[in-house]
Amino acid sequence: MSHNFPELKNDLLLRTLNGEEVERPPVWMMRQAGRYLPQYMKLRKKYTFFERVETPELACEITIQPIDELEPDAAIIFSDILTIPQALGIDVDLVKDVGPVMDNPIRSVDDAFAIFAEDVPEKLNHVMEAITLTRKELNGRVPLIGFAGAPWTLFCYMVQGQGSKNFAKAKAFMYQHPDAAQHVMKELTKATIDYLKAQIEAGAQVVQLFDSWSGLLSPEDFNKWAMPYLMEICDAIDEVPVILFAKGSWYALERLSFKSNASALGLDWTITPEYGREATRGNTVLQGNFDPSKLMMPREEIRRQTKRMIDRFGTQKYIANLGHGILPNIAVDNARTFVDTVKEYSATD
Ligand code: CP3
Repeated sequence: MSHNFPELKNDLLLRTLNGEEVERPPVWMMRQAGRYLPQYMKLRKKYTFFERVETPELACEITIQPIDELEPDAAIIFSDILTIPQALGIDVDLVKDVGPVMDNPIRSVDDAFAIFAEDVPEKLNHVMEAITLTRKELNGRVPLIGFAGAPWTLFCYMVQGQGSKNFAKAKAFMYQHPDAAQHVMKELTKATIDYLKAQIEAGAQVVQLFDSWSGLLSPEDFNKWAMPYLMEICDAIDEVPVILFAKGSWYALERLSFKSNASALGLDWTITPEYGREATRGNTVLQGNFDPSKLMMPREEIRRQTKRMIDRFGTQKYIANLGHGILPNIAVDNARTFVDTVKEYSATD
């Protein structure tokens, strides 16, 4: 299927990801569509989370809300990383004050070997429809980012059955039943590749891979349980740039930079810009890494610290973003200050 999408007017993110010289860094925020926006809260009252995700018109509207409100340089499709577990037969519910909960998580070796990545794009066709619709409705204002969760992070939820600080059940399962865990990871890798390719076909111009929980693994376990699958996914996607966010896995930056096919690496706020540049030897586009909690600071301080972040990363090979998702209790004007400061940045100020 080929689409006839409106021409892209703001290609700053794409040029940065292609390694081109740019006039200033592009800016967007992880989880920029969400509960800090009053527009989002209005729709949240009327529909459940998965109704919002599964109805292309709603997902499209929610994706564009932060674009209208804050004018960042990219949109990210409103969806969730837990769509893949759903497509693989795990029921996911979003429970108030708890987060995602699965009624039938992987509890046994048999459950694990019963996981097969079949027809994932077909089962998640609503996501592709939302992407195609959003691409049209954005009318070329900014590029549209698609995304997926990385296999390790999805495995965490699929075994733990809900969010957790340490995903101890998931880790125990992996150490006790490595063959079964490996089977799940391989199926997740296949599902993720098929899913991302379908998103690209539907109109995603960049994709981001979220390994939100990779920081729970020791460096040795990261090499075994995360790295090979991240590499395989990045290698398989050559149609559009891939942003890889392996949160907490600072020790892997050098290898991810030189050995993976990712176009950019996301950094969380526990890493200094200098460390990020040194580890990747200036080779890689870096994205991040403003501590999301710092958006609680007075606006003058947000402005000062955002400027300082850009001074330290430099204006080239850099995508300004938070170091993780925006928090629900952030004032819209504080988020705006972050975005505006990047857009107004000039090194001489
Ligand atoms: O960035 C965006 O604006 C796009 C939308 C997006 C959502 N989830 C919407 C969402 C993205 C990129 C995600 C990814 C996601 N989902 C991740 C990886 C990124 C990260 O933050 O580490 C993870 C781990 C999930 C799983 C998930 N979904 C959790 C843990 C929760 C509950 C916690 C929370 O933030 O409420 C969700 C629900 C969720 N996904 C919400 C949104 C806007 C909140 C839903 C609501 O209460 O209205």
